[in-house]
Amino acid sequence: MANTTHIDVAAQAHGAGAIGSLAPREDFPILTREINGKPLVYLDSAASAQKPRQVLDAMDAFTRTSYANIHRGAYTLSEEATSAYEGARKKVARFINARSVREVIWTRNTTEAINLVARTWADANLKSGDAILLTEMEHHSNIVPWQLAAARTGARVVYVPITDSGELDMAAFDQLLAAERPKLVAVTHMSNVLGTLPPVQEIIARAHAIGALVLLDAAQSVPHLPVDVRVLDCDFLAFSSHKMLGPSGIGVLWGRRELLEAMPPFLGGGDMIREVHLDGSTWNDLPWKFEAGTPAITEAVGLGAAVDYLSALGMQRVREHEHALTAYALDRLASIPGLIVYGPPAERRGGVISFTLGDIHPHDLATLLDRDGIAVRAGHHCAQPLMERYKLPATARASFYVYTTSAEIDALAEALTHANEVFAF
Ligand SMILES: Cc1ncc(COP(=O)(O)O)c(C=O)c1O
Repeated sequence: MANTTHIDVAAQAHGAGAIGSLAPREDFPILTREINGKPLVYLDSAASAQKPRQVLDAMDAFTRTSYANIHRGAYTLSEEATSAYEGARKKVARFINARSVREVIWTRNTTEAINLVARTWADANLKSGDAILLTEMEHHSNIVPWQLAAARTGARVVYVPITDSGELDMAAFDQLLAAERPKLVAVTHMSNVLGTLPPVQEIIARAHAIGALVLLDAAQSVPHLPVDVRVLDCDFLAFSSHKMLGPSGIGVLWGRRELLEAMPPFLGGGDMIREVHLDGSTWNDLPWKFEAGTPAITEAVGLGAAVDYLSALGMQRVREHEHALTAYALDRLASIPGLIVYGPPAERRGGVISFTLGDIHPHDLATLLDRDGIAVRAGHHCAQPLMERYKLPATARASFYVYTTSAEIDALAEALTHANEVFAF
């Protein structure tokens, strides 16, 4: 390639060993953009995914033809809006194989979904001295809500350490389970920094064996791999629409029905009540008991369209595509002098690669890559305890999705090689 960052999708489809995008790139209007005169190479899907026109069109058509507030009107438009909104919930329930659509609670995002459990279940069930078991590789969203819950209830937060290769120390996990007998284990299904895929089925089985519940932070898993809550047998699952080709502003808490039934409400207001009197109120049925106020209506429709899009691609194929890209990228990056990749081998990680390059500060590196149109994230990735574990101030992170190609990884590798030359002086 004459121009190191030029991506020729047609040519790469014929290139030896080249991996084309899984989804048609023309479905994603933003991918035709140029940044600093170069074609956009978007390698920040772990932060937020780009949107296909099918999602954009579904939201646009709904807003233009069927928009009204939901649940409240006896008129046709409101009934249409309610049916589109609740239809999206059914799509999500099927996508994760929930037993009942009532187990799917809309939230704003993963963060709010975890806070919901940490406020309602935790406040009602934790007492002084109880343990909550987390891991050193959690996103701040799966740490801070539990620290707050611990401060309110007197419970303790305990962390499972990770190994140097970025995997959970399962021997330590077993010891902590036995010694602490936690009430809840809250663990990421896939690390947003290292890409690590912890052995969640083992974790869930062992936690259940001592009577602990398990919450999975599925922000990075539901968008990228098949997730079946019945097979996993977890108790709570939290994820965000914006990381799975849908709009921002809506997320999901899935929970076991009997747990959700027993939990007190989260926020109070319209829609979450059955009756309100001056001396007290009663609560609506699931899922609405947890959904106070006018929700993200159009966004729910968009998430439903994203679920349709991902289902048509097939989540197993999404996983295989990203696995192939990750193996390709690890191989490609290994030849760059001074580049260190953090985390496990491709078999045990998703499409996320954190790295450092010599002494170059990750922020400088990301700025330099941007000049070539390459978007990567740099920083602590909302996982400061993990950065402390590695004694790193920050890393650069490239992450992949259904539209990513190996030609884009080539562009990244070539730009990093160039960065080495620039910073050598
Ligand atoms: C593993 C993980 N958990 C939680 C979150 C928080 O997601 P949101 O900001 O959508 O609430 C993220 C976002 O990057 C994440 O990667």
